[in-house]
Amino acid sequence: MIGIDKLGCYVPKTVLPLTTLAQARGVDSNKYTQGIGQREMAMVSHNEDVVTMACEAAHTILDDHDKASIDMVLFATETGIDYSKAASIYALDLLGLPSNTRAIELKQACYASTGAMFLAMDYVRSHPTKKVLVLSSDIAWYGFENSGEVTQGAGAIAMLISMNPRLGSINEGLKAVRNEKDFYRPIFSKVPLVDGKLSIGLYQDMLKEVEDHQSRRYTCFHLPFANMANKANRMLTYPMDEAHLNIVKELGSVVGNIYNGSLYLSLISVLLHAKEDLKDETIGMFAYGSGAMAEFFTITLNENYQEGINKTSLNQLLEGRQALSMDDYIELMQHYELKEYASDIDLSHYVKPYQTFVHESTTHGHRNYKKVK
Ligand code: COA
Repeated sequence: MIGIDKLGCYVPKTVLPLTTLAQARGVDSNKYTQGIGQREMAMVSHNEDVVTMACEAAHTILDDHDKASIDMVLFATETGIDYSKAASIYALDLLGLPSNTRAIELKQACYASTGAMFLAMDYVRSHPTKKVLVLSSDIAWYGFENSGEVTQGAGAIAMLISMNPRLGSINEGLKAVRNEKDFYRPIFSKVPLVDGKLSIGLYQDMLKEVEDHQSRRYTCFHLPFANMANKANRMLTYPMDEAHLNIVKELGSVVGNIYNGSLYLSLISVLLHAKEDLKDETIGMFAYGSGAMAEFFTITLNENYQEGINKTSLNQLLEGRQALSMDDYIELMQHYELKEYASDIDLSHYVKPYQTFVHESTTHGHRNYKKVK
């Protein structure tokens, strides 16, 4: 058996309530909260980026024994911080992982995390005593005052892939790829170019193409916004009832789109909020990445699947979050654009008590990170 040994998550503590955004944009707040299904979006704070978020997620699950067995780090992101150097090299160093390790970054919109997971499974099959750390970390930033603004978010997922996994084994299903123009970020653009309606249609079409027509209690989805789950559920041969559907999208509705981690955030939502005992449960998983790649697979949870998550840390995921005013949000995201493209910047005065890893400065384009506790 090969699968997810441990699963961890991090989401920023600064959030924009969608009612605040609706008021500022002169939109009926029901459109955002009921139509799109989002209540809050996590926004990256001043000294966070994809590397710090990935390390925060990994830090919640890795012990020294795990670290020693890691032979490869795969970093899935569409929020690249460098055209050449892989974010996994920064992360590996910050996490104190062994230096005789492969470190690579992967890209295919929101699908790269799932692609990385399947590559990691093949790697473990040929190196059965080794583990692979798959990191998924993204900042969904569309810019101000456009239709994508309401579907932003930020966060990271860390997955340890191994033989005899503690959380559950992965069962391969069907996959499909098409050359499409629904969402892309050309090298001249700071934000993605998105045709949301086209993307939703493709997502639904490709789900229909790859789903396995099995009835099950839970199917998790990649969620660019929470109510995408309603649209996806309707495509299934055996749709979930409303109570189970709400559990699948609960976390997403207060975090927003975290791109590569979004499907796994939906899985964590089920692990945290399901009313049933989930041992031996098989959960459907639908991955979609614009451009476009789709895959349907399942995860069968173990009898002791709780050993594969850090329940204390997951329960604290949404604790102590700070609601942003519209002015705070504008300042924060203007700062984000400035810092992401700065050749030299000092961020050392932004450290917050809840942070373990920070982006401390950039010097001559090189990011300097620090473990602060
Ligand atoms: N009260 C309640 N619901 C309302 C409403 C109101 N006052 N006004 C509108 N709605 C509903 C609409 O009926 C619609 O629901 P439906 O989709 O079930 O029909 C929903 O709210 C959204 O309205 P819509 O007019 O479609 O919104 P929009 O044109 O602003 O676009 C997205 C919404 C999601 C397409 C847009 O935000 C987007 O493109 N986001 C980016 C998505 C993305 O990242 N995709 C790529 C990765 S997969």
